[in-house]
Amino acid sequence: MNISIIGTGYVGLVSGACFSEFGFNVTCIDKDKNKINNLNNGLIPIYEPSLEDLVKKNVKAKRLSFSTNLAEDFENSDAIFIAVGTPTNIKNNKADLKYIYEVAKEIAELINIDADPKLIVTKSTVPVGTGKNIESYMLNYRKELKINLNFEVASNPEFLREGSAIEDFMRPDRVICGVESNFAKSILEKLYRPLNLRETPILFSKRETAELIKYAANGFLATKITFINEMADICERVGADIQEVAKGIGLDGRIGSKFLHPGPGFGGSCFPKDTRALSEIGKEVGAKSAIIDSVIKVNEARKVNMVKKIKDALGPLKNKSLSILGITFKPNTDDMRESPSLVIIPELIKITKEVKVYDPAGMSIAKEMKEFEGVTWMNDTYECINNTDAIVLITEWNEFRALDLYKVKTLLNKPVIIDLRNIYKPDSMSELGFQYVSIGRGSI
Ligand code: UGA
Repeated sequence: MNISIIGTGYVGLVSGACFSEFGFNVTCIDKDKNKINNLNNGLIPIYEPSLEDLVKKNVKAKRLSFSTNLAEDFENSDAIFIAVGTPTNIKNNKADLKYIYEVAKEIAELINIDADPKLIVTKSTVPVGTGKNIESYMLNYRKELKINLNFEVASNPEFLREGSAIEDFMRPDRVICGVESNFAKSILEKLYRPLNLRETPILFSKRETAELIKYAANGFLATKITFINEMADICERVGADIQEVAKGIGLDGRIGSKFLHPGPGFGGSCFPKDTRALSEIGKEVGAKSAIIDSVIKVNEARKVNMVKKIKDALGPLKNKSLSILGITFKPNTDDMRESPSLVIIPELIKITKEVKVYDPAGMSIAKEMKEFEGVTWMNDTYECINNTDAIVLITEWNEFRALDLYKVKTLLNKPVIIDLRNIYKPDSMSELGFQYVSIGRGSI
């Protein structure tokens, strides 16, 4: 089987590397010449554990290649995956589909009406109905094209998480395929056969259903996080412990223990964008989702409230110097998109004497961002902490979980840690003499 994957972002590049690892021939295509040149020279544009090794291995085995030209391998491709971005359109909060339609146009131009039909598969997160709309768009753009005879569009949403993308692709909880014909079904069945052998559930549904499953999954997970964050606020006021509450409810098989970690609010390139898009989808079809609307509102407010939490813990901040540990939206990524740090840090810059920042992977991207103008960048955790009045931990990188707390205490002007990810135990911290403020565990 030969596959073309258009878009070499997280989803495209990871899917390409993993499909080639399954043994298929994959060409990853991107318009960005620089990116493709770098990929051809073994330089990976994103920080993702094990991705570099997987790419190198499959390039060496000649199963994976990179190109700027879709036309080159088009004729030989059994399936063409669209994995371009669908960012929020800031004018209307909907998913911006301009890259999707640019690709659809390019594909329509390349289809040979005398050849076998082409299966086009959307991997990007796209609003319900997009598969159908892409088909209509292509039929309208090139009038001689015929659905089924020349091409058709299937939906195969991706559920991988940044930071564990390879593992998520190789060992998914399930694969969702939205198809409108046996032709599409048989191609996707072949592509996912390696997972079928591991007994991964592969669900076939109508295209619209698959498109909605993706938004519903992200909407539900975002709701779960927002719910536990609200419970954490209640815990702080009544003296309960959110970690135990999460464990207590998570043991109920109907609830499940995952995605019940309280924190400074969800960020990233998916949950914020997809909850906004889902809200717009609901409004558009006359089925407004009050739950999703409040999740968006509550999550945005939460990021702002974290500054209040810091102020409440430290008192007047005017003459204080703070050390920030972690700025990416979660660990094991350099992705800064919609990270809570983008809301918290600009405010801290305004009201403190100094903000020192260290993150294991996010700093090179963050250094270019206006939100961080005025921070002092540090190269290492202890250097960052040295001579500051408190630590504010925003992202739970592993290297922050095992700090030498005796050393930390001697470096800080005062032993204060505000931990927005609950990586330490309050009892042990107070035994060590720290003023330790965390989320949903006793004091506000
Ligand atoms: C998310 C989904 O988890 C993936 O299944 C999906 O494929 C992906 O979006 C996507 O649509 O492409 P991702 O954004 O990489 O993946 O990251 P998550 O691990 O889901 O974390 C998202 C945010 O929620 C982070 O800011 C994280 O810190 C926060 N979070 C997560 C919590 O605050 N608490 C939790 O219990 C879990």
